Amino acid sequence: MKKILVTGSVGQIGSELTMLLRELYGNENVVAGGNRTKPSGKLLESGPFEIVDCTDVAQLAETVKKYNIDTIYHLAAILSGVAEAKPNLAWNVNINGLYNVLEVARENNCAVFTPSSIGAFGPSTPPDDTPQDTIQRPNTMYGVTKVAGELLCDYYYKRFGVDTRGVRYPGIISNETLPGGGTTDYAVDIYYEAIKKKAYTCFLKAGTFLDMMYMPDALTAAVDLMEADPSKLVHRNAFNISTMSFDPEMLADSIRKHIPEFKLDYDIDPVRQAIAESWPNNMDDSPAAEEWGWNYEYDLAKMTEDMLNVLGEKLK
Ligand code: SER
Repeated sequence: MKKILVTGSVGQIGSELTMLLRELYGNENVVAGGNRTKPSGKLLESGPFEIVDCTDVAQLAETVKKYNIDTIYHLAAILSGVAEAKPNLAWNVNINGLYNVLEVARENNCAVFTPSSIGAFGPSTPPDDTPQDTIQRPNTMYGVTKVAGELLCDYYYKRFGVDTRGVRYPGIISNETLPGGGTTDYAVDIYYEAIKKKAYTCFLKAGTFLDMMYMPDALTAAVDLMEADPSKLVHRNAFNISTMSFDPEMLADSIRKHIPEFKLDYDIDPVRQAIAESWPNNMDDSPAAEEWGWNYEYDLAKMTEDMLNVLGEKLK
């Protein structure tokens, strides 16, 4: 049985991925690592928790040794909006933190999953059907750290044989833990506000198309890639994965099928608008399908139905 450490386990993806990994591999075999925010509820009660700051290599190594960890899902990261406000912090967490994880993995023979992002692309990348292998010249600090991270992970695989794998996540939509400071966060907030106020003021312009994904598909992608037969992997860091592409108007229309009076208006955040415009509209994910069988379950209509059902109960 695998022995897994999840960094960033209290974050948007980590809080749900940790629970799925515990279901699959056993509660005691999945250590939730967190730094600033302490976990609560089922995440805290269902299995081990350790304070793990990825910028502290000694603390990381100690946790990996203490639990005989053989697989690290390294989710601790600073998202795009915060990274523009605090580039120094983003560099430290996203680059130095990843470097520490890779070094500890090399010394302790661990496999490593690291998410990259649509943010690893930039304005000179072909925006439609963005190929797996293409121009990556992002103009954000988040993007700089994601491209460097992809390269570093590939380097550790080629040079040291560390089993590194990753995906380029689109914007992730979920209903358990809120994202923190990303450009795609509007697509989460809009559902909360649709339930609470039947209205939402969006910080991205109408017509801004971005790749998006519902959390269950994002979790399956991480687990399936780490379980994939390594002999089939031509790429490693990081695979384009995609399930839907929409703009705020399309998202609002899908909500209006359930809440007809829902109103959308706009108050544009120039920083995040510029970031969004530098990212692809939709990525070609055929290499992920060919090399490890990537597939998905949720389109926009199915996601909206589920989000509104779950949040309708949660926000009662
Ligand atoms: N959701 C992320 C962000 O907006 C993109 O990877 O920063």
